[in-house]
Amino acid sequence: MKISVKKSAPLSGVIEAGGAKNSALPIMAASILCGKKCQINSIPKLADTENMKEIMCELGCRISDNTFDSGTLCGYTAPYEGVKKLRGSFLLAAPLLVRLKRAQIPLPGGCPIGTRPIDLHLKGLRAVGAEIDTYHGVVDIKCRQLKGARIYLDFPSVGATENLIMAASFADGETVIENAAAEPEIADLCDFLNKQGANIRGIGGNTLKIEGVRELSGVTHKIIPDRIEAGTYITAFAITGGKGIVKNVRSEHQKPLLAKLAEMGVKITEQGEDFLVDATSPISSASIKTLPYPGFPTDMQAPFMSLLSVAKGTGMVVETVFENRFLHIAELLRMGADIRTDGRTSVVEGVTRLTGAKVEAHDLRGGAALAIAGLAAEGETEISGAEHIFRGYERFCEKLSGAGADICTLND
Ligand code: EPZ
Repeated sequence: MKISVKKSAPLSGVIEAGGAKNSALPIMAASILCGKKCQINSIPKLADTENMKEIMCELGCRISDNTFDSGTLCGYTAPYEGVKKLRGSFLLAAPLLVRLKRAQIPLPGGCPIGTRPIDLHLKGLRAVGAEIDTYHGVVDIKCRQLKGARIYLDFPSVGATENLIMAASFADGETVIENAAAEPEIADLCDFLNKQGANIRGIGGNTLKIEGVRELSGVTHKIIPDRIEAGTYITAFAITGGKGIVKNVRSEHQKPLLAKLAEMGVKITEQGEDFLVDATSPISSASIKTLPYPGFPTDMQAPFMSLLSVAKGTGMVVETVFENRFLHIAELLRMGADIRTDGRTSVVEGVTRLTGAKVEAHDLRGGAALAIAGLAAEGETEISGAEHIFRGYERFCEKLSGAGADICTLND
């Protein structure tokens, strides 16, 4: 799929962020745990969330609109075609293990930004009593009764933390997860479970204490706003020197981005969950280092680099979370950006002019970064691989064009 982006006048008006993709995926998977009906609202309509629904239906769940009924769950083997399309489906491991005492999930494999190993997931599941065998590209996990354990995560992996929270919620006794991820999406998952009778303490911190329970009640839950989608649109206003409102933004989830934008001269006024972005003054550069939450989010690294490409001065970008998350740089260079990379560090010299070019999106956030750069680049930017963008941004072109961006999908 392709999209066309042309140099746009300063954006204005309103863009509203939707529900968080990276909260919806674990919570959809976790809805299996209760074996009853859950109503999950604000799930963004994306390829990833639709793929997760498809896989869950193949395993026997009944899903209509946003009602998830896992009472008829009958399969513990996730389909290869589904897992290949959605790495996040490995989050089904713990729920299937809890409900059916077994989970067979094809190895999710890597993606352009990294090899995406699952060793921390498996190490933690073994700690709570699972027997794990890997053969023919499938991870086969069994366990008659999960038991509480003390787990230290070598890296605060979001996915591993989520799988272990779900397994520990039904383990005999207490589980302590140390060096757990503390992203807002983790807290949202814990809220979803605690509202049903789970017993998770330490939410929002890096040490979680979970007392296993026998059952969960089912619940109606609203997914938190997508902090990365919101950050992406704030950056779009900034790169065009625009002035407008991004709606449905949680201030506490945006601290690193807001601090950096303030450093650069972008004025942001918070009005509840509406953010007024004023980038009508010239912006200067800044440096970022991506870190697990509450550090600067790795998912905002690429969009932010596009902004640095046209900011006055020199900025440094260090990517510490994924080993190959600079794929957008070669494409930005084709648009006239001045970026030098050495390993996980890039130095960005702001330029006065970007020019549109034919470029390729290799991953979700890198694709969004190219579209943002296209808003400020003279002429037209044609982005192929746009399906990557649509995996994570609902109505991406509509939302941006609603604020005055000259962007549309192309029939390729
Ligand atoms: C989640 O991926 C998000 N995806 C990613 O968002 C996000 O970039 C990432 O967290 C970090 O915030 C979803 O929530 C669906 P990790 P996840 O496990 O869980 C290493 C986007 O653009 N690691 O925290 O896969 C891993 O290699 C996507 O929306 C291990 O070594 O991320 C990576 O270097 C991209 N062993 C680092 O940890 C493991 O067992 C972070 O991975 C697991 C991870």
